[in-house]
Amino acid sequence: MIRSLKGTYDILPDESWRWQTLEAQLHDFMSIYGYKEIRTPAFEKTELFSRGVGEETDIVSKEMYTWLDGGKTNLTLKPELTAPVVRSYIQHNLGALSPVTKLYYMDALFRRERPQKGRQRQFHQFGVEALGTPFPEADAEVIAIAYEFMISLGITNLKLKLNSIGSGQCRTAYKDALKEYLSPHIQELSETSRLRFETNPLRILDTKIEHEIELLGKAPDILGFLTADDETHFSEVRELLDGMKIPYVLDKRMVRGLDYYTRTTFEITSSALGSQDALCGGGRYDKLVETLGGKSTPAVGFAAGVERLLIALDEIGKTEEPSKTDIYFVGLGDQARKAGIKLVHDLRKQGYKSNYDLVRRSMKAQMRESNKSGARIVLILGDQELENNQIQIKDLENSQQMTINLDELKNHLYKLEL
Ligand code: HAM
Repeated sequence: MIRSLKGTYDILPDESWRWQTLEAQLHDFMSIYGYKEIRTPAFEKTELFSRGVGEETDIVSKEMYTWLDGGKTNLTLKPELTAPVVRSYIQHNLGALSPVTKLYYMDALFRRERPQKGRQRQFHQFGVEALGTPFPEADAEVIAIAYEFMISLGITNLKLKLNSIGSGQCRTAYKDALKEYLSPHIQELSETSRLRFETNPLRILDTKIEHEIELLGKAPDILGFLTADDETHFSEVRELLDGMKIPYVLDKRMVRGLDYYTRTTFEITSSALGSQDALCGGGRYDKLVETLGGKSTPAVGFAAGVERLLIALDEIGKTEEPSKTDIYFVGLGDQARKAGIKLVHDLRKQGYKSNYDLVRRSMKAQMRESNKSGARIVLILGDQELENNQIQIKDLENSQQMTINLDELKNHLYKLEL
């Protein structure tokens, strides 16, 4: 038997309705905020991610599904969506249409990570990107979308962590200061942190190792390195969030795993998840459009893991799948069955969610199926009723059953307001 690959999952029929519900909620929510959907291809040139996300990041250095296509070009299954969205924004000159371009997406992504609860190799994200404005109101809007969408889904125990990693100038100075602080302790660091010391020192702040966390407690603070402009920007973001009554905690050690961030960064975690507790992450990326060959365009966005949202929703109690059937037809005898097929065909054309037995089972089995289907109405037709141009109609809501003239069925159903 051929099985699905490690870290990939089928979304089976008893699960897919939850995805559909979430997707519908997302589309509604985004239209309230004035964002439009963008869809980009599943694979891109590898260079887009190595330049966009950063050579030294875990995503690019370890986790990408990359292959040499036709012996010529390196291609990669997209591991994230910000770089592809920016590529598309530049390629189609979307910025020419209005000063701010507000986009959202929901898509499948691929990272070769060690699978565990809330971490897959193929996973889904939804997210937003607002391109074209350097102002803190865009940061606040994007954070508000992330937070309020989760609240609207009913997810509780949310923690919004906020930080600013400043502009490039501030980060270079901070990296030097951090390295200076850590260098006498280099032998105490784990292998990963030692490697990061050389390649990407900021990521050391992301360590989960107890004694490293302790050591970093006394490390210089990135907020102390912000320029005056960075500081003003950050305090305005906070003021706007306070005004919107969106609670947050400052987390000066929060660094994100992608290199394109500038100034604001944020994550929302939920205690409903295990060790992979980040529901979403994002921030400002004022240099990415330029890095990828476009005009200098400040931007901000975030992305949330859909599987993780569904796990968090599970924790607050599984909701029942809404019934997908209005009417179930039960036929007894050959002629009645054939007449039923025509009848159901007509009902379907009128928009009633109708079903009948496709395997010619006994009346008893059909009745059992009608109960299982969750239908409100069961129509029962035998050859005798057919001859009299009649049909039995049973309302499962109040168990009332009556025989009516077939010509009256339409009117009758109309009155039931199915
Ligand atoms: P990220 O932090 O790499 O950011 O991913 C965002 C979210 O995707 C995570 O918080 C998590 O919920 C989910 N996620 C990531 N990896 C996995 C995985 N292997 N399995 C399941 N869920 C996962 C980004 O991707 C940035 N592009 C976000 C962004 C948009 N920044 C600005 N705009």
